[in-house]
Amino acid sequence: MTELHNAAPLPTEIDTTIPHEARVYDYWLGGKDHYPADRALGDLIAGHIPTIKTMARANRAFLARSVRHLVGAGVTQFLDIGTGIPTAGNTHEVAQQLAPEANVVYVDKDPIVLAHARALMSSTAAGRTRFIHADLHDPRSILDHPATVETLDLDRPVAIMLVAIMMYFRDSDRPADIIASLLDAVPSGSYLVITHPTADFDADAMAGVVASAEASGITFHPRSRDETSTLFAGTELVAPGVVPVATWRPDLTDGPTPVGDADSAWYWAGVGRKP
Ligand SMILES: C[S@@+](CC[C@H](N)C(=O)[O-])C[C@H]1O[C@@H](n2cnc3c(N)ncnc32)[C@H](O)[C@@H]1O
Repeated sequence: MTELHNAAPLPTEIDTTIPHEARVYDYWLGGKDHYPADRALGDLIAGHIPTIKTMARANRAFLARSVRHLVGAGVTQFLDIGTGIPTAGNTHEVAQQLAPEANVVYVDKDPIVLAHARALMSSTAAGRTRFIHADLHDPRSILDHPATVETLDLDRPVAIMLVAIMMYFRDSDRPADIIASLLDAVPSGSYLVITHPTADFDADAMAGVVASAEASGITFHPRSRDETSTLFAGTELVAPGVVPVATWRPDLTDGPTPVGDADSAWYWAGVGRKP
C-alpha cells in the first residue's frame, strides 16, 4: 500500500472568522455552535439548495439507521471519522442503546468538534468512547493512534463510518487509497458506511454550492452514484445498495427521527461489508 501522508498541519486554534464545515453543518442541524461567518455561508448555500436543512437531517437520520443495522449484524466497534459537532443521535448513543458494551472512536480534524465531543459525549459504563484529533488524509495517524489501539480490537469487525466527509476529498487526494488503507486494517466482517452529496439530482444547484464553498476555502466535491459506488471497492454492498439517503432502510427509523423524502436529500448512501 502506498503511503498517504498529504495531510496539512492540523489546526489547533478555533478561528471563528472563517466558515468551517462542522459549524456550517451544525447551523443547518439547528445546533448552537456556529458563528456569523458559518451562518453566512450556510445561508448562501441554502440559496442554492432551499432543502439543505432537510438534507442535513436526512443524512443524520441515516447515520442512526445504519448504526442500528450494524449492531443488529453483530458489530460493536465503530471508527467514526468526521464526527461533526455533537448533536442528537451520535454514533455511540445509538449503538450503546442497543449494545451497551459498544466501543466508538471518533475522529475529526476540527478542534471545536473535539472540544465539544470530549465535554458532551460520555459512554455507558460497559462501553467506551474516545476522541482523536486527526486528519483522514493521513489514515495511519488514525489507525496507529493510541486511542484507536486501546479502544478497538482490530482482530474483530469494525464499522468504518465516513458519513458526509468524502466530499472534502478531491480525486487527487486519492480517496480510494485512503479507504483501502482503512479497510486493510480491519478483518473480514467489518463494514464501511458512506454518505456523499451529489449533483445527480440538480447539477445547477450543486454547482452553486461548490462555488460558494470553494470561495470560502472549503473543498467540496460532489460525486455521482457511480463515483460514490466506487468508494465501496473491496466490500459487498448490503441491500438496498447505494441509494438516496432517505430511502436506505427506512424501517430502521426509531420513533420521531425523520427520514426525509428521496427528492429533497441529495446524498447517496450505502453500507458495504468486507467479505
Ligand atoms: C458535514 S460534517 C459530518 C458530521 C457527521 N459525520 C454527520 O454526518 O452527521 C463533516 C465533518 O468532517 C470533518 N472533516 C472534514 N475533513 C476532515 C478530514 N480530512 N479529517 C477529519 N475530519 C474531517 C469536519 O470537521 C466535520 O466535522
